[in-house]
Amino acid sequence: MLTNWAPSVYSRLSLCEGRQHDPETTVSISQDFRIHDFDRRVCRICAELWLIDVKEINRLQHIAVDKSRLHIPILFGFDVIHGYRTVFPVPLGMASSWDPSVEEQAQRLAGQDARAAGIQWTFTPMVDIARDARWGRIVEGAGEDPYLGAAMAMAQVRGFQGATLGPDSVLACVKHYAGYGAAEGGRDYDSSYIPEELFRNVYLPPFHAAAMQGAGSFMSAYMDLNDVPASGNQWLLTDILRGDLGFKGFVVSDAFAVASLVTHGYAADPSDAAYKAVTAGLDMDMASGTYTNNLPKLVADGKVSQAQLDAAVLPILAIKYQLGLFDHPFTDESKVESTLSRPEGLALERKLAARSMVLLRNENKTLPLSKSLKKVAVIGPLADSKSDIEGGWTVEGLFGSGSKSHPVTVLAGIKSALGADAQVTYVVGPDPSKVYLGLLDQLSGKKVLPAPTAAETADWLAKVKAAAADADVVVAVMGETSGMSSESASRAGMELPGMQQQMLEETAQSGKPVVLVLENGRPLDIHWAAEHVPAILESWFPGTEGGNAVADILFGDVNPGGKLPVSWPRTAGQEPLYYNHNLTHEPEDRPSFASRYWDIKSTPLYPFGYGLSYASFKFDNLKLSKANMKTDEATEVSVDVTNTGAVAGDAVGQLYIHQRSGSASRPVRELKGFKRIALKPGETQTLKFTLGQHQLQFWSPQTKVWAVEPSTFDVWAGDDSAAKLHSEFSVAQ
Ligand code: BGC
Repeated sequence: MLTNWAPSVYSRLSLCEGRQHDPETTVSISQDFRIHDFDRRVCRICAELWLIDVKEINRLQHIAVDKSRLHIPILFGFDVIHGYRTVFPVPLGMASSWDPSVEEQAQRLAGQDARAAGIQWTFTPMVDIARDARWGRIVEGAGEDPYLGAAMAMAQVRGFQGATLGPDSVLACVKHYAGYGAAEGGRDYDSSYIPEELFRNVYLPPFHAAAMQGAGSFMSAYMDLNDVPASGNQWLLTDILRGDLGFKGFVVSDAFAVASLVTHGYAADPSDAAYKAVTAGLDMDMASGTYTNNLPKLVADGKVSQAQLDAAVLPILAIKYQLGLFDHPFTDESKVESTLSRPEGLALERKLAARSMVLLRNENKTLPLSKSLKKVAVIGPLADSKSDIEGGWTVEGLFGSGSKSHPVTVLAGIKSALGADAQVTYVVGPDPSKVYLGLLDQLSGKKVLPAPTAAETADWLAKVKAAAADADVVVAVMGETSGMSSESASRAGMELPGMQQQMLEETAQSGKPVVLVLENGRPLDIHWAAEHVPAILESWFPGTEGGNAVADILFGDVNPGGKLPVSWPRTAGQEPLYYNHNLTHEPEDRPSFASRYWDIKSTPLYPFGYGLSYASFKFDNLKLSKANMKTDEATEVSVDVTNTGAVAGDAVGQLYIHQRSGSASRPVRELKGFKRIALKPGETQTLKFTLGQHQLQFWSPQTKVWAVEPSTFDVWAGDDSAAKLHSEFSVAQ
């Protein structure tokens, strides 16, 4: 039992995590090593990551459990971000469902698969608020809004861990704590400068929600936060996390982030880095070896106390215990394959992928398409790319010896929906990432990949023209390759890369109905398409069954109901762009001295919360149970939603507020409630929301507390952040 152990004896065992397993050192563990050697070697395997060979996992576990002096099992960790073998939509896609049960179901299946395969710890969920789509890691989170982000964070923790951590759970790791998404210029790893009120009101809530949901581990971020690196930041790791958020689990650094404290110019040397990190409250050093190499001396010299070391180790041991690792350290190898290849996983993926897609445009009811179409032209390099449809961070594909999943591309999905009688012509075009890869090659001094020559370009365009001329409908599948929105994958421009824009313009000249299906991990600059292409479907990177899910929507088997979790810019120059900004001295609609650009509107192309359906919905009858209330009271809001269309569909009711005056300026609108519901044609449902302390309070830079302030509040309800249905209420002391 954990309670019978003396933590100080065991404390040296759990402070480090190996980046890769090292058979040389692990097999040689024995009880005979001197303490120093023993520490160094055993520390290497206290937690192990990026290993997905279950036989090797068991072999290492046997060494730890059977042969090491203290018999403490290893915690095996991996980035199971959006699926294990069955890959679900990228997190930004799942957030577009505006349905937390999508995240919960996906992560439950991913967690079951991972645990069956020997992984007990996932570096998920990423809950960083991202207000700048140039930042490539926007794909890994739930977008720009703290309220939606908190709901999605909690759902993912529930999915992985269940109600409480246990032998069937996978330990969630909430990352990247905190403020990573505010990287200056959208450049990954760059510094974040976030005033405390913005930090507490916008960046912190999803972390707080995940901690409340019982997340057992947090990962500290790479960047400087207000000049103090997050991985050595006591205010973040102790005052806020342990104090305000009441977090009881353990904190691991991001990979090599402890060593990076030296690179940042914050620590003088690795010993100073270990000292600054551990005393700030960082419990486990991922991969850099800085703790292994420096903590023994720091403790021996009395710079780090035994009590500080114990405080770092205890939560790690407690979690290993809660995960059942001491009772059941090994994985049943006979069950791995049958678990990973469960057919229900693929069926669930197809359903959740379709639920995550957002219909951005549908002029003249271009969609849904008829299944009796005889000739379809499919255009674009992503349409048949198996390596892109699942997006980044796939376990088997990236880290294993090759994926055993068989992703369905959009081309395959369309062919299977139409059957053998239809003629589907495919024009691929050049790899869209070629131009960027060429640039990277140039930067690293390597060979530059050639962009298509003028003759090649003309040839591709001629092929597109011919295919479109011969087709009844053109489906252009365009966007980014999966590596283009990911870690270390920021973009300064957000246009369709490569030749895709030219190819799209060529299709539009055909006069045939054109549908643009987007595959991407961030909003793109599609302002041309938004005027010239009649139908646009955002599929994100939709996962293993993604092509079938796209076809389900294109041919009307599923009615799209997803909504944008981000404000969609007209062009990259608008970034950072987010709906919950403050009112300005001169708003955009003033005749002069307005807050706007010369060249474009400063509003988004598509607002946060936006998404179309094959049905249409009316919101009315917005009522509040109290028009006047006290700061400790709540008002119940109700609004009727009616399906005014001819087909069944999903509406997402969204509730926004604005506080008109107070101790600080408040955002023009803030999401404070949402619900996705299914409505038959003609059906009306009444949605109910509560506006009380939880929804109305904010952290004021003047009072420095969370409080509901007396004021008048606006309320809007509708199906995006530009909703017009309005009411108001007053709050008095
Ligand atoms: C990323 C983390 C990830 C870790 C381990 C880092 O580079 O920032 O998100 O969990 O690697 O793979």
